[in-house]
Amino acid sequence: MPTLDWIGKKAVVNHHRDVSYRLIHCDKDKSVGDPDAGNLLVQGDNLEALKALLPYYAGKVKCIYIDPPYNTGNEGWVYNDNVNSPEIKAWLGSVVGKEAEDLSRHDKWLCMMYPRLRLLKEFLTGDGVIFISIDDNELHALIMLCDEILNGRNWVGTIVWKNATDNNPTNISIEHEYIVCFARDKTKLPKEWKSSASPVREKIQEKAAQLIAEHEGDLLGLKSAYSDWFRENKPYLWPFQEYDEIDTDGVFTGSRSVHNPGKEGYFYDIPHPRTGKPCKMPLMGYRFPEETFLELKAKDRIIYGKDENKIIELKLYINEYKSKLPSIYELDGRRGANELRSMFPDAKRTFNNPKPIELISELISFVTSGDDIVMDAFAGSGTTGHSVLDQNSKDSSDRRFVVVEMDAGIASDITAKRLKKAVEGYERTGRNGSKTSIPPLGGGFRFCTLGEPLFDADGNVSPAVTYPDLAAHVFFCETGSPIPRRADGSSPLIGTFQGRAIYLLHSADAIGVASANAGNVLTAAMLDSLPMPEPDFAGARVVYAEGCTVPDDRLSRHGVTFKQIPYQIEGL
Ligand SMILES: C[S@@+](CC[C@H](N)C(=O)[O-])C[C@H]1O[C@@H](n2cnc3c(N)ncnc32)[C@H](O)[C@@H]1O
Repeated sequence: MPTLDWIGKKAVVNHHRDVSYRLIHCDKDKSVGDPDAGNLLVQGDNLEALKALLPYYAGKVKCIYIDPPYNTGNEGWVYNDNVNSPEIKAWLGSVVGKEAEDLSRHDKWLCMMYPRLRLLKEFLTGDGVIFISIDDNELHALIMLCDEILNGRNWVGTIVWKNATDNNPTNISIEHEYIVCFARDKTKLPKEWKSSASPVREKIQEKAAQLIAEHEGDLLGLKSAYSDWFRENKPYLWPFQEYDEIDTDGVFTGSRSVHNPGKEGYFYDIPHPRTGKPCKMPLMGYRFPEETFLELKAKDRIIYGKDENKIIELKLYINEYKSKLPSIYELDGRRGANELRSMFPDAKRTFNNPKPIELISELISFVTSGDDIVMDAFAGSGTTGHSVLDQNSKDSSDRRFVVVEMDAGIASDITAKRLKKAVEGYERTGRNGSKTSIPPLGGGFRFCTLGEPLFDADGNVSPAVTYPDLAAHVFFCETGSPIPRRADGSSPLIGTFQGRAIYLLHSADAIGVASANAGNVLTAAMLDSLPMPEPDFAGARVVYAEGCTVPDDRLSRHGVTFKQIPYQIEGL
């Protein structure tokens, strides 16, 4: 497969390994609602944040959505939509070295993206997917990058999002951007994605319910009122422009899929209710037998033409609609900014080009359910977190979000405040100043910042690291999987993984010093007292400690491997 090369690539391909694992601190004052809802907003550079989150979330995230800088070269935005932000410049200088001064903006963008995507991959579940928003500036580079990091065979598709109308004189009016989708392993994806979530559908259903109530016992009046409303709103009803009929069961369209595709189906006459003559039959016959037709007829699911010259259709009610994720998606891009403005009508500082909730909710609704985790490493105004809460309220799910924003001002003043409003409810201000009360979506989130590295410059465990922190880290490094439950130090057994028991002997009072008295040395007595995960456990046991006084042959007789802290803790 062709690969992409650029100046600085060599310096970044393995850079994710050199990034320090850091502690994560929770800021209670900026956290909101239920801290145990499982949602996190982390303020920090996502490279460090992702590395810090890895021991807790590796292989656990079902859907990642990212909206990285598009690298348009436009400097005048509230957030830097380029790779010249001071943080990224400093990072490039330290990682790429002197060469960084000569990088083009495309080289810089690739240097920035490579290690981040490399880490993001590690978070995905086997059947997880990543969606990446991008425009023409870096689409080609992004796809090649993903081909390399996630493997070209895991490309799921690229959505063209038609988000704008450009009436300026130009050669080709650019009225779209893209959302690239890759799977961690495409063979593990379900055969098809279907979602019943659609805000447009909800609007139509709301209107239908209102009209059905208003026109009780008057079917003609109901049809005419719906028809007027439909005609007026048709331009905004995509993809429901065919749902132009209503009865007391709701809005429906006619489905022409009565024919048998490809081969001969069932042949029988269906008399037209008015003329009594047999209706025109599909060329290859009907796809269902006559009994099924009679059942559908009894349920009033058949639509006849005005006479027998039209093939029958089936009523397809809007509440049965299961949408597919189309490669062309139409939604006005200004929607996101309007949503944010309606939440913060007095804000002086706005955020440019937030994504619409509808867009992200739609993606989430196709690929996640239950308590799946959704991650966004370029959180911006927090649309992804908001969309997760929004989608949960629509389909009564418990999805969780983990989002990261580098800019401290944005994280505190925009992302956290927006998510707080979403959790607690707020008053939406319309363009004309009208106020609507928006109910709370519930839940909550922890606001976190990044602390000191787990290991100091000499490679020793930092004194700030607590037993639970180190246990989570050791377990992850040993197994590649997050620790099953928080280890509080009451037992040296921190968890089991695939028939292997992992132990940690660590004392915050004796870091870097092997001391049997402090309990951080594997002695013969300690070996005999190590608790078994279960009475007849016969699997391998791995013990992390500062030192070991038990001879190797005795360890192997007990099925124990000793690994010395810090040298033998090998992370990603
Ligand atoms: C295009 S915006 C995302 C907008 C977001 N999707 C929304 O709907 O509001 C990109 C965001 O990523 C942030 N960002 C850029 N580089 C980052 C990094 N290295 N780590 C974390 N966040 C970063 C920027 O500060 C900006 O807020």
